[in-house]
Amino acid sequence: MSKFYITTPLYYVNASPHIGHAYTTLASDTLARFYRLRKKEVFFLTGTDEHGGKIYQAAESKNQEPKEFVDKVVENFKDLWKTLNISYDFFIRTTDSSHKEQVKEAIKFLYGKGDIYKAVYRGYYCTPCETFFSPLQAKTNSFLCSECRRPLQEIEEENYFFRLSKYESWLKGYLREHPHLIRPSIRYNETIGFLEANPLVDLCISRPKERVNWGIDFPLDKKYVVYVWFDALLNYVTAVGLFKDKEKFQKFWPADCQIIGKDILKQHTVYWPIILHALGVEVPRLIFAHGWWLVEEEKMSKSKGNIVDPYQLVKEFGVDGLRYFLLREIPFGSDGNFSCAHILKRINSDLANDLGNLVYRVLNMAEKYFSSRLDSRKKDIPQEFLGVITQLEREYLNYMENLEFAVALEKIWEFINLMNKYVEDKKPWVMWREKRLPELSYFLSSLLEGIRIVAVYIYPFMPSTSLSILSQLGERKEELSVEDAKWKMRGFSIKKEAPLFPRIQK
Ligand code: MSP
Repeated sequence: MSKFYITTPLYYVNASPHIGHAYTTLASDTLARFYRLRKKEVFFLTGTDEHGGKIYQAAESKNQEPKEFVDKVVENFKDLWKTLNISYDFFIRTTDSSHKEQVKEAIKFLYGKGDIYKAVYRGYYCTPCETFFSPLQAKTNSFLCSECRRPLQEIEEENYFFRLSKYESWLKGYLREHPHLIRPSIRYNETIGFLEANPLVDLCISRPKERVNWGIDFPLDKKYVVYVWFDALLNYVTAVGLFKDKEKFQKFWPADCQIIGKDILKQHTVYWPIILHALGVEVPRLIFAHGWWLVEEEKMSKSKGNIVDPYQLVKEFGVDGLRYFLLREIPFGSDGNFSCAHILKRINSDLANDLGNLVYRVLNMAEKYFSSRLDSRKKDIPQEFLGVITQLEREYLNYMENLEFAVALEKIWEFINLMNKYVEDKKPWVMWREKRLPELSYFLSSLLEGIRIVAVYIYPFMPSTSLSILSQLGERKEELSVEDAKWKMRGFSIKKEAPLFPRIQK
């Protein structure tokens, strides 16, 4: 059994999570569940980024100690992940002592090999984005942050630097040889463009405590803490025990897929590979940067006051409704405009009409015509399904592996709608009237088998719905596998329940 290590970014705990954070985590959860279906040993990591000036200020504004403040906000993240049925294997907090100790080890190691030095830093800083700008970059942007457009703060202080520049040519070469490391390709090109436009400058990785007194103690100098990004990026290796648990580290590293939003591309495709390489550690296999959920064409963010509350959506549309919508509505990698009208439409048409009706209708007929027990003699795939099922099997695996979630769902729905059409075309009520019972039994059993296959395929996206369908079909499965999506029609003992997705009126 091979492993699959997948990560989300570590979310800042200056405020509660919104639908943007939920999106990244849901996509990662879907992929984690898919690889569990494929019988890989999955390690799914998420967590929180808890240090730095921004968090410190947020705590201060609430008159709380930073640790007291972050401890509360972290619970909001954990609660939401529980609500959304997120199956993470480990939740790392950058305030965990194991992480802090390993970050210090990493810094000592890099210092020992001459990759860290002390110098005066003159430049500009954006605290909300925790990002530095050189005097030239700041001037080009009229002394506003290029990300959030807020005024930059001028800084001049002694600090510790990590020699990014030393590894510039290594990174360029590595990226040239690994064009699929960063996806979608537009983000690969963006990284290459960035490297070509700017010679890499060394990264300032410390903060004097007199300015930011909330971070991991800098191991070389008591007067400093570690820069929050340097601390946070290392989580992906400290979580699997880089300096603590050799066996675990060897088992899971390199990460197979690191999912991030496009806003934190440079940190993950420039700084991160270089830090790893300097530490003598392999680079991850894939960094996938997805797009943003926008509200009226603007990125959703707390500072813009346009955030969408995931709990409200769950209340109105259900967990699986929301999970389905977020991954079906826009291609993974592109931006999308968020609107409740779109969710409503998707849920009513795809979930209530197409899937929900099919399941309810077929189970209802099984109940009515065969008292919920079916065992057709004929068990092969109906001609009408044959091509579609074989193609779906291939396409599903392929699209899921490529993180093309929306297309994978589209293909599953083609099969669902084929089954709906099959019901219309074959007119089972006529078979019943004319007492063509073996034919009717085969017809309904085939549909039940088709529905069973669909239930397996939608498991990564809508785990509760999938398990509910399987249980209504009388399937008691401890652990699903993609192998279960193969046609193997047996008898069915149906336990019909209420419709899966009642139509939502608005
Ligand atoms: N703490 C850093 C990441 C450190 S990783 C070692 C950070 N945190 S964050 O809380 O700002 O979360 C950023 C991530 O949240 C984005 O990269 C993206 O995955 C997700 N999103 C936040 N807003 C989003 C949207 N409006 N739309 C889609 N995803 C969004 O940056």
